[in-house]
Amino acid sequence: MPFLIFFYRLYFKIEQSAGDETLTEQDQKKWDSKYLRNIGNSDPSNLLEKYIFLASHGNALDLACGNGRNSRFLAQKGFQVDAVDISNIAITHLAGQDPRINVICQDIDTWQIPQDHYQIIINIRFMDRRLFPMIEKGLKPGGILIFESFIDERKEYCLEPNELLNAFKYFHVVYYEERKAAHSDKFDQSVYFVAIKKV
Ligand SMILES: C[S@@+](CC[C@H](N)C(=O)[O-])C[C@H]1O[C@@H](n2cnc3c(N)ncnc32)[C@H](O)[C@@H]1O
Repeated sequence: MPFLIFFYRLYFKIEQSAGDETLTEQDQKKWDSKYLRNIGNSDPSNLLEKYIFLASHGNALDLACGNGRNSRFLAQKGFQVDAVDISNIAITHLAGQDPRINVICQDIDTWQIPQDHYQIIINIRFMDRRLFPMIEKGLKPGGILIFESFIDERKEYCLEPNELLNAFKYFHVVYYEERKAAHSDKFDQSVYFVAIKKV
């Protein structure tokens, strides 16, 4: 019985928060209006710049690519990039900028990462735990994962301390750091993770 009550409450909460719109539509609107106000800066992530040398040339995946600052960097380095984001505004901004970038406007919560396809997957300032097993399968052996996100134990959409080390425990870890969040006072800490899928 408590089990049923829990699910009823959860269902009711989701229905209530979504109103007539789905959560995907709400998320998309939120990010579209952010990007309409400000498309953001074009400098790639420092972590990506520093560790790109580890990846062999081929396919790259930029999860929640935003304005495409990191996709453009990957394309300039010679990768064929799949750039996925839920925001039409961000994706329209990026489309056509570089023929090596394939833009995909999709809700990542329902998107499937192709298996054994990528030499590098980057996940910068985004977090969806559902993707972790798919990231592992999506990388080719020897492929690189570059992950940068936030830790905040009060927020369920943030990582927990050491969570990435556990989620990707079969990877060879090249770099891991948790430190006071530099970009935002909204979160406790930033986390930086670079790892190689074992051959
Ligand atoms: C903080 S921005 C980071 C953008 C980019 N990775 C960067 O580092 O510049 C987070 C991004 O996640 C995207 N996003 C949020 N929820 C998403 C979802 N369910 N599916 C796909 N993209 C999503 C937003 O549109 C936004 O571009």
